[in-house]
Amino acid sequence: MGAALALAARGRGQTAPNPAVGCVIVHDGRVVGRGWTQPGGRPHAEAMALEAAGPAARGATAYVTLEPCAHESPRGPACADLLAASGIARAVIACRDPDPRTDGRGIARLEAAGIATATGIAAREAERAMAGFLMRARHGRPHVTLKLGLSIDGCIALASGESRWITGPAARAHAHLERARAELILVGRGTLEADAPKLDVRLPGLAHRSPARAVLGHGAAPFGWIAVDRPEAIADTPALDVLVEGGAGAAAAFLAADLVDRLLVYRAPIVIGGGRPGIADIGLVHLEGAHGRWRLHDQRMLGIDRLEVYERVRE
Ligand SMILES: NC(=O)c1ccc[n+]([C@@H]2O[C@H](COP(=O)([O-])OP(=O)(O)OC[C@H]3O[C@@H](n4cnc5c(N)ncnc54)[C@H](OP(=O)(O)O)[C@@H]3O)[C@@H](O)[C@H]2O)c1
Repeated sequence: MGAALALAARGRGQTAPNPAVGCVIVHDGRVVGRGWTQPGGRPHAEAMALEAAGPAARGATAYVTLEPCAHESPRGPACADLLAASGIARAVIACRDPDPRTDGRGIARLEAAGIATATGIAAREAERAMAGFLMRARHGRPHVTLKLGLSIDGCIALASGESRWITGPAARAHAHLERARAELILVGRGTLEADAPKLDVRLPGLAHRSPARAVLGHGAAPFGWIAVDRPEAIADTPALDVLVEGGAGAAAAFLAADLVDRLLVYRAPIVIGGGRPGIADIGLVHLEGAHGRWRLHDQRMLGIDRLEVYERVRE
């Protein structure tokens, strides 16, 4: 399943409205087919892996990061039917598909064809990898990551507004990889006017994966950009994953609307002092209301900077 999740990651940011799924088919301990959702959402991972496996799929085990779809579409057959027809003996599934056209039906169809199934293997990892798709299916909006490049003392710029650069090349490269995983990247109008950011992916081989761009504010957007007049309006875009890259006003607007699901804090070992805070007022009245909302999920060094990844606690 780890290998299937790694394959799924190849499709991140490219498959909307479909989830980025991975599939590995194993026969007698050998990988005979690998697949991942292709750009635009089709073919699905299972179809690609079965195509590669051919007759070797008979009696094999398929590992798939999401319940195989049970609905046919004009763009392709249902993966549950493809798997059933292939003669696989067993399907190992990370998590169920909340899409009402599939939810439980994909698994039922496999079992009706005599295929043994196991569900819930690496479910948390799979849910995290498909957070955008699952958020859209369950709550009708994209998954939102807020990225902040901060000094030790939590500033995103000098008082003068100078902000290039706070973090170093390794942290910036990581942030570009995060861009490649989103369908939409957003900044506030203040940042657009102060920095005129390109918001593209400047990593070798990934330049073609730059996401669509949006600006939060009350005026028109530059040509080719999407205008977003309130944080909630991101639900009207087709994106599964949105990356908010500041500044302080946009960060506060998304936090105040409780629309941030994940925080990426890149912290540079510099002190600014009296600079511009990374997050403007979010309307917090009592300290008590700030506790229990964020859980540290991951942390690592990126060159001399430190990345902290926080997830919103929602249960
Ligand atoms: N270090 C970093 O990671 C980083 C990242 C980005 C930016 N920055 C720095 O941050 C500074 C800019 O920050 P900023 O706070 O001045 O600007 P900002 O957050 O980029 O943009 C503020 C604008 O966002 C719009 N906005 C805010 N809340 C809104 C809401 N609820 N609904 C609709 N629109 C809303 C408003 O636009 P309207 O005026 O059109 O209403 C507001 O003027 C710059 O110095 C930039 O260099 C640093």
